[in-house]
Amino acid sequence: MLQLGPVARREGDDIIEGALICPERLCQREHPIIDGIPVLLSNPASWLENQLPYVLRRTDLTPFTESILGDLAGPSTPFDRERGNNGIYAHAHWAASSPAYLNVFNAASALLTQPPQGLWADIGCSVGRGTFELARRTNQLVAGVDLNFSMLRVAEQIRRSGRARYGRRRVGLAFDFVDDPIPDFPVANVGFWCADVAMLPFAPATFDGALSLNMLDCVSAPLAHLCEMGRALKPGAEAILATPFDWAAGATEAAAWLGGHSQRYGHQGSSLEEFRRVLSPSCDAGVDTGLLIEAEADNVKWRLRTHERSHTEYDVYLARLRRKSA
Ligand SMILES: C[S@@+](CC[C@H](N)C(=O)[O-])C[C@H]1O[C@@H](n2cnc3c(N)ncnc32)[C@H](O)[C@@H]1O
Repeated sequence: MLQLGPVARREGDDIIEGALICPERLCQREHPIIDGIPVLLSNPASWLENQLPYVLRRTDLTPFTESILGDLAGPSTPFDRERGNNGIYAHAHWAASSPAYLNVFNAASALLTQPPQGLWADIGCSVGRGTFELARRTNQLVAGVDLNFSMLRVAEQIRRSGRARYGRRRVGLAFDFVDDPIPDFPVANVGFWCADVAMLPFAPATFDGALSLNMLDCVSAPLAHLCEMGRALKPGAEAILATPFDWAAGATEAAAWLGGHSQRYGHQGSSLEEFRRVLSPSCDAGVDTGLLIEAEADNVKWRLRTHERSHTEYDVYLARLRRKSA
């Protein structure tokens, strides 16, 4: 169990900065709490190698200065990709007019046998809408977990300010600044954690339920993600997993894809059949995730806006999973 080390409160702010410290005598590793977000990774130094620019990113620039910097940095630079991606997900989660994310979230909720209760985790929470929606339903603390510090900071900023603020690409390098009030959520029940879904920093059997929406095909180790979700759930707990099986080598090396390759063998490379094989009662794929498929839904629309004239639409598959009892 990690111990809280010295903490500091920022002046005029409720943000806590500090560190959680591993009490193991030979470890004593410090896990920083940055902008109120604990970074709980087995190797925080290697995470920081690619996340440091996002951790250090200023968030107080005016849209005017951001726009000048965006033009100077140019297209497809880390700065352009970061604000483009944040804008895509913030729009999908928080757009004032029917955000696309809710279509998947509502389909996931409809698959549950009863409304969520107890302690839930939103695994791969991105900019946080699912975490807030779960907190509203459970009235208990919900843990939103993601590896992307920039997205987590958007989520945490929404929690603190009650407003969704982000740049949304209009076209090319032109962005519109959005500053919308968010609906009334119990923000005290929401916490965002920077952690790897393939190595969750929670004790076994912690959660009464979990969401994994549009995650499976985005992680480097899909099987480890499933095993970790199984480990973190209490026996008998339900989880909803949604995925469009949109594998990409940039996120997951092809050998780790569940299906989507090797069409000459069983299931002809079908991702859905491979997913069912992994979660079959007899663990046909040779890995016991601790989870079983109980119910399924398919072809739920998930539409992501990239700019004012471009959208990507996915047909998402959903499964209600149950943590085995023994
Ligand atoms: C396609 S987005 C889906 C986000 C959100 N669940 C939704 O449906 O809008 C995938 C998310 O997974 C996160 N992610 C990818 N690999 C991860 C990992 N190993 N651990 C934690 N989060 C990860 C990304 O940062 C991103 O926020």
